[in-house]
Amino acid sequence: MYRFLVSGGQPLRGAVQTASAKNAVLPILAACLLTEETCTITNLPALEDVNMMLQLLRSMGVAVERQGRAARITAAGRVSTEAPYDIVRKMRASYYVLGPLVARFGRAKVSLPGGCAIGARPVDLHLRGMSGLGAKVTIEHGYIDARAKKLAGAALMLEGAKGPSVGATANTMMAAVLAGGETVISGAACEPEIVDLADFLNCLGAKVSGAGTPEVRIKGVRRLSGAEYRPIPDRIEAGTFAAAACITCGDVEIRLCRPDHLTAVIDVLRRAGARVETTRSSMRVCCKGRAKACDITTAPYPGFPTDLQAQFTALLSTAAGTSVVTENIFEGRFLHAMELARMGARIDVKGSTAVVHGVERLSSAQVMASDLRASAALVLAGLAAEGTTEVLRVYHLDRGYEKLERKLSKLGAKVERVADST
Ligand code: EPZ
Repeated sequence: MYRFLVSGGQPLRGAVQTASAKNAVLPILAACLLTEETCTITNLPALEDVNMMLQLLRSMGVAVERQGRAARITAAGRVSTEAPYDIVRKMRASYYVLGPLVARFGRAKVSLPGGCAIGARPVDLHLRGMSGLGAKVTIEHGYIDARAKKLAGAALMLEGAKGPSVGATANTMMAAVLAGGETVISGAACEPEIVDLADFLNCLGAKVSGAGTPEVRIKGVRRLSGAEYRPIPDRIEAGTFAAAACITCGDVEIRLCRPDHLTAVIDVLRRAGARVETTRSSMRVCCKGRAKACDITTAPYPGFPTDLQAQFTALLSTAAGTSVVTENIFEGRFLHAMELARMGARIDVKGSTAVVHGVERLSSAQVMASDLRASAALVLAGLAAEGTTEVLRVYHLDRGYEKLERKLSKLGAKVERVADST
């Protein structure tokens, strides 16, 4: 186990490069189960979640060959159709094997993901997608069991009480590419990661159209081929570096990112007083002086991403004035607020709203990470605080950020990874 020692007070300066998007890579790796031919996924980020997905595929008998940042994946011959609890409990996104397994092998036994720090996170919409395509779905002994001789295309409404679901849209899209006839998904998630998955599926010979809009059409095909594919850059990693530049009053160029995937985020950065210059593949964020207070409301894409809420709440905790942050996607996604309060932040959380009274200066403390994005928020707060902050349980960070301490140090930050002595 490791912790981070973060010494505050240095404005970040220089350039940093984003890795490929975790939330695009995970479904793309699972989608390789849809074909017996070899798929080569390049520019893979060095993340625990990616290692976990590859481990899951290997445990199912899939051939996985790593070559540097690429993985050659071949799901030929006998493939187990089970995703065991022991892996799914460590990474919810393991449920992305559900759709491909039912579609290609007519059977999937996938452990239910169980609880999560940021909210209840049910999977009813995933099951609605599978049963809507004709699979017989049961839940027994903590496992989803889905069976179908052959899936059949259908018209499906996949919007839930909290709006569209990224995971359910992806799983249903992957199942529908081998179904008989046409599927129309309404209320589909529009995230760039969904578009990237659809682009990958079409590279394999699928017929997916309308991805990125609330209505996705999939014409089923009999079989798919292999392909080589490079996923999109990580917009959440890029947004995290942008918030880091602001909270330290720095000047950072974020390279190999997609500013067109970050419009809502750039809008908030500018409202907070940052100067933001963009090109097709880079974004320069410069913040002279203290950020200005502004309100944020999380929403499905193209709204402000919930995965950047914690990092921007940390930024606003040092802003001039009072901001209101409303979290509409995950009901329990304010765990970082109490940890930031240990550093002197003044944040009143009521239900899905946090009123953030900006303070001049945060002070260092020992703080505990509860989930991936909350841990990034604590590191950012440490970069702005007086003294050295200890962020415990950084294993959360390693799930979704590639060598964060090295990338931040390259920008002039003082961040050290140390092994836990206790
Ligand atoms: C994906 O999770 C991301 N994870 C999350 O990022 C991200 O926060 C989320 O989308 C929203 O953008 C991955 O891509 C691996 P949802 P997912 O289904 O698919 C409710 C990170 O930090 N819902 O779009 O699980 C759900 O409870 C992670 O990288 C149902 O009610 O999110 C939530 O309130 C954290 N029933 C809302 O919909 C369902 O069957 C949106 O969830 C499914 C979801």
